[in-house]
Amino acid sequence: MPRWSPGNGEPLDRYLTRNGCGAWAWVHHLIHWGRVSVNGERCHRYHHRLAPGEVVALDGVPVADTPDRCVLICHKPVGLACSHGAQDAPLIYDIVPEALRHPNLETVGRLDRNTSGLLLLTFDGKFLQRVVAPERKQPKRYRVGYSGTLVADASERAAAGMMIDGYDTPCRPAELLFKTTDSNGLGRATVVISEGRHHQVKRMIAALGGHVERLHRDRIGGLDLPSDLEPGNIRIISAGERVALGAD
Ligand code: URA
Repeated sequence: MPRWSPGNGEPLDRYLTRNGCGAWAWVHHLIHWGRVSVNGERCHRYHHRLAPGEVVALDGVPVADTPDRCVLICHKPVGLACSHGAQDAPLIYDIVPEALRHPNLETVGRLDRNTSGLLLLTFDGKFLQRVVAPERKQPKRYRVGYSGTLVADASERAAAGMMIDGYDTPCRPAELLFKTTDSNGLGRATVVISEGRHHQVKRMIAALGGHVERLHRDRIGGLDLPSDLEPGNIRIISAGERVALGAD
């Protein structure tokens, strides 16, 4: 059983952060300065556990609970597994800051262990349905470094909807753009797909004659990986980022 859920046993500082009152350090200041009340009484305990129905206010103004807003944005580094299972690799959940952890937190789709880039996490099932339901066909953009030589009509094949290993129906049409070779001699390409088959980009590149050496996702829908989000960093998604995703 989860120890708490939004608005029910949730620590006061967590509630304030989740509902847009600021980052942890700032919220702790607000509580310390006596600007936060619970049911009309000033509360100085950061981790006061909120009972259902308790009203939290900042400077006397109630802070409304918006439980569906709990979505985290992460710059996944290479080397972490998007899984809860016991593995021989550290898990993405290990790097979620203590204050943002939740027993039902799940990644929104998965990136392979050796893939880096934009990853979302949430415990909000409605968000999952709204944003990543297959019928939404959200485009996901990957930067690929590959060895080998791709067939001359690779872009056309991707655009037409190509077959990949392990599946007996063609992929949805995808975009494949070539870039110049990088300094290590790897071919570079950008691939945009709108579905999430297992190892899809790696299998597409393999079917076209190459081998993926590096894979990085930098865009989901209209949301770019923020340039100030360093590898390994995780924070609550902003209102503007939710709009870019088409979540609201
Ligand atoms: N395609 C892959 O092959 N791997 C990923 O991690 C994501 C897309």
